[in-house]
This record gives sequence, C-alpha cells and structure tokens, in this order.
Amino acid sequence: MKRLVLGIETSCDETGIALVEAHSAGSGQALESVRAPKFKVLKNLVASQVKIHEPFGGVVPNLAKREHQKNLPILFKKISGEEIIKKVDLISVTVGPGLEPALWTGITFSKELSKKHKKPLVGANHLEGHLYSFLLPKKTTRREKLESRRIFPAVALIVSGGHTILLLVKDFKTWKKLGETRDDAVGEAYDKVARLLRFPYPGGPQIEKLALRQVQGKHPNGTIEFPRPMMHDKNYDFSFSGLKTSVLYYLRDHPKYSPTDVAASFQAAAIEVLVKKTMRAAIEFGVKSVLLSGGVAANKTLRTALKKVTSKTKLNFWVADQKYNTDNAVMIAAAGYMTYLHKKKYPLRANGNLEI
Ligand code: KG4
Ligand code: ZN
Repeated sequence: MKRLVLGIETSCDETGIALVEAHSAGSGQALESVRAPKFKVLKNLVASQVKIHEPFGGVVPNLAKREHQKNLPILFKKISGEEIIKKVDLISVTVGPGLEPALWTGITFSKELSKKHKKPLVGANHLEGHLYSFLLPKKTTRREKLESRRIFPAVALIVSGGHTILLLVKDFKTWKKLGETRDDAVGEAYDKVARLLRFPYPGGPQIEKLALRQVQGKHPNGTIEFPRPMMHDKNYDFSFSGLKTSVLYYLRDHPKYSPTDVAASFQAAAIEVLVKKTMRAAIEFGVKSVLLSGGVAANKTLRTALKKVTSKTKLNFWVADQKYNTDNAVMIAAAGYMTYLHKKKYPLRANGNLEI
C-alpha cells in the first residue's frame, strides 16, 4: 500500500511541513508481516523559531503560536502546496504532546486543508514520530541492513527536550513503557546547563560542541565527577534535575571553572546513565535491537557510545539521520501513516500531555 502523506508539525518551536511517500509490503491487516515500512522524503521544510525565543531562554507558548500561524502558509506555499495537495492521500498532524497553543495552529490549519480538499486527516503522536524516526532514509547500505535484520523485540530510548522514555517495543504497534524521567528531561538538563554557562537556547548542540573540544584533550570525559542519578536503581526511571543542580553548585564554588571541562563532565554523566540503563533493559528483555530517537539523539557522543556497546553485545542499533532527530514533519508523516495503517485514532484536538 503506497500513500502520499503530508505531515504537519507545530508542537513546540519548529514549524514543519513535509511530503513523504510511504509504503509497506503488507496490507493494513497483515501489518505484523511488514518488516520495515519505507518512507521516501519528497519535501521537508522546517522553520525554526530559535532566534525568537532565544532572549527568553526557552520557548514562549504564545510567541510560538504566532510564529506557527505566520509560517504555516509560507511553508505550504514553498512546497507548492496548492498543487501537491491534489495528489496527497493523507494529511497527518501532531496532536500532542507539546504546547497546546502551538499544537492548535497545526490542527486548525490541517482541518481547513482537509475540509477544503476533501482529504483524510489523522492525528499523530509526536513521541511516536520520534519512535518511528529510525525508519527514515539513510544511506542505502544502512537501509538494506534495516530491512534484512530482525528489528523486534527492541528497546527504544526517546530523548528530547520534554521527554526521556525507555520503551520495550514488541512490534510496529505494540510497546510498553519501562520507565521515564521523574523530573527534568535530558534535553532540558542540557539546555539548563548551557544557560548556566551563559550559552543561548537551545543548549544541547552548544554543550556538545564544547565537550568535543575537551575530547581532543587529555580528559575526553572531563575531570569533574558529577553524580550519575539513579544509574544503579533497579528500575528504568531517570532523574536529571540533581545533575543540573550539581553543575550549578560546582560553578558557584569554582569561579574560575573551565566551560569545556564542565560541559564534557556533565555530558559524560548524562550519557553514562542513558547508556547503562538502556543496555540493562536490552539485556534483561533479551531484545534484538536498540532504537534511539529525539532531539538529544542528534548528539554524536551519545550515538557513538550506544553504537559501541550494542555492537559489543551483538545487538542492532538503529537511529535516524541527524536531521530527523530534532523536531520535523517527516517523522509526523511517518507516525500518521502508521496510525492510519493500525486503524488507531487520536482525537483531532490538542493534548499537551498525550502519552506514548
Ligand atoms: O525532539 P526535540 O527537537 O524537541 C522536543 O520534542 O523536545 O528536542 C529538542 C532537545 C533540546 O533540549 C535540545 O537542546 C536537544 O534536543 N538537542 C541536543 C542536541 N541537539 C538538540 N542535545 C544534545 N546534543 C545535541 N547535539
Ligand atoms: Zn520532539
């Protein structure tokens, strides 16, 4: 079954519109037989609002709403939307989780398109978008490997600005939450630490850059022993707010601190916890693969660390291309397509706390 899917994403501070050709080998009913649905990206536009929110040190919901309202018609025009929409089989829009005023802009825009052009509209779960992003195109060799190997069962680690979640994934439509963060998400911790170091929002990429400078030196993991919260607890939950507070105290007590050392040491602590807990789950549940996704999955050090340990333990490791880890509408088109195939239905209204 081949479908042309228009994806629309407005859950946070990125306005995304994408056109994706999706197909799976089986029919809707025989979905379990589908090894890996294929997604061909035809258009992918993201308008970032980073510069607008930067002075506030985080995303301001009403500003995000205003910017999405302004950007959606511009992006739609850029992809020649009025012509393309005639060929589209399905529109998929993020309904949650995220900032509700922001989510509503995408939902309203999509509802109007759907009504005007008589096209089916599905609500997509943003977190499922991240989860499925490992299926997004990469080099042909990677793609072939993905198709030839068994993916499931798998452990999925979703790490973003709002979430840190570990899932046990049985197949493309069945999973169970093993654990999640009890306080700050790991991306949020990156952003807060960057702010303490006086770097602008979003801080993740800045911290990574600083930490990489340290890697070229003698102490790739930094010299500061920050705590590894909940690393040895016998559950799959996380906690990152204590780690951020330790950084705060360190900076207060060491006015002549080295930003690169702090960044590298913080990152080493955060990544060690993520990797250890993910691998413990992978071994306990005897999975075939580890899936990594979400904005923080754009972090090279995290990707490399997980790649290394999974290859040692002969597990498959799947992660999307760099550009599909941070928020985008391609993953929303993919999630909407899967939702549609599974005959799952999310109400077409904003749900800021939607769970996976
Ligand atoms: O998935 P995403 O784009 O938006 C949410 O759904 O939250 O994730 C954004 C988060 C931000 O906290 C950002 O700092 C973090 O992902 N991030 C990174 C990197 N790139 C983005 N964190 C660490 N290293 C990176 N390279
Ligand atoms: Zn996201």
